[in-house]
Amino acid sequence: MIVLGIETSCDETAAAIIQDGEILSSVVSTHWLHNSYGGVVPELASRAHLVLLPPILDQAIDESGISLEAIDAVAVTRGPGLIGALLVGIAAAKAIAFARNIPVIGVNHLEGHLWSAVFESSDLKPPFLALLVSGGHTMLVDVEEFGKYRIIGQTRDDAAGEAFDKVAVLCGLGYPGGAQIEKRARTGDSAYYEFPIGMHGQRGYDFSFSGLKTAVATFLRKNPEAKHDHLADLLCCFQEAAVASLIEPTCRALRQSNYQALVISGGVAANLRLRQRLGEEAERVGVRFLYPGLQLCTDNAIMIAWVGWKRLLKGQKDGLEMSGEANFPLPGILK
Ligand SMILES: Nc1ncnc2c1ncn2[C@@H]1O[C@H](COP(=O)(O)OP(=O)(O)OP(=O)(O)O)[C@@H](O)[C@H]1O
Ligand SMILES: [Mg+2]
Repeated sequence: MIVLGIETSCDETAAAIIQDGEILSSVVSTHWLHNSYGGVVPELASRAHLVLLPPILDQAIDESGISLEAIDAVAVTRGPGLIGALLVGIAAAKAIAFARNIPVIGVNHLEGHLWSAVFESSDLKPPFLALLVSGGHTMLVDVEEFGKYRIIGQTRDDAAGEAFDKVAVLCGLGYPGGAQIEKRARTGDSAYYEFPIGMHGQRGYDFSFSGLKTAVATFLRKNPEAKHDHLADLLCCFQEAAVASLIEPTCRALRQSNYQALVISGGVAANLRLRQRLGEEAERVGVRFLYPGLQLCTDNAIMIAWVGWKRLLKGQKDGLEMSGEANFPLPGILK
């Protein structure tokens, strides 16, 4: 089955084509126009998707080596995301499905992230523990099987990616700043300052990043020269605290259950320090540690096409009345 995937939930316009789970093409365009605003401006994102999506669809089809006529179904991100941005992708998906008389299926963006490691590890099989760390979400998900998910922990305030992005803006690195922080932190001294670790010493599997973010802001207010004289050290210490804030609840969950594998996904999963530390911990606990390729951590349409394909194989599809849902919940949530 050949599936066209479309992703427009935030500030990446993306299209991809997969055939029976194999990637034929993938095109992603990130909207750098938000950089100077310190965050995504929803109206600008919607307008950028309108301009970018048609040529990106053309490019994805060209690069796949197949024609539009060969596509069997269209999968599109239905939510969660910015409603105006979602509607652009959904309108395009429905138009293609209607014109070609093929099925369309709305996909949950987070379910896409959850499974994005499958392209790196084709033997990825549930049950596993998933740590989803993106720009808008931070959660631990017990994946019982495809379509059956139990959220065992989540952030009580900011998402991990949001903390990276806010600290990057505070340090004048622009938006989104996670990758920039990682790059600059490489030469930093982790003994320079000790920032607080969210939920340190607590029970349960929830996360917290607002205290860490505030601690960095307070430190910079009291030590403005650090931004110039000790930027790498400051970012290294922030990154260490952010990574520890992710690792502590994850390791508690790993130790308290019998998981065979830990899978990370989402933009922050591209962070090599996080991968290294989680890899060490997983080895200590004796579980496999799996992660997506770097390109599949941040938003892309491959993961949307893949989840759509799996759902289509189960006989699911949507009607043309399907619309975007800004707070679309993960499907199949178990209590
Ligand atoms: N190397 C890195 N280290 C830390 N953070 C990173 C790195 N690369 C990207 N990020 C962060 O990942 C986030 C973007 O990830 P992603 O595209 O998955 O999020 P999103 O789609 O905006 O949010 P969501 O999936 O929750 O709707 C940004 O916050 C960005 O700073
Ligand atoms: Mg995302």
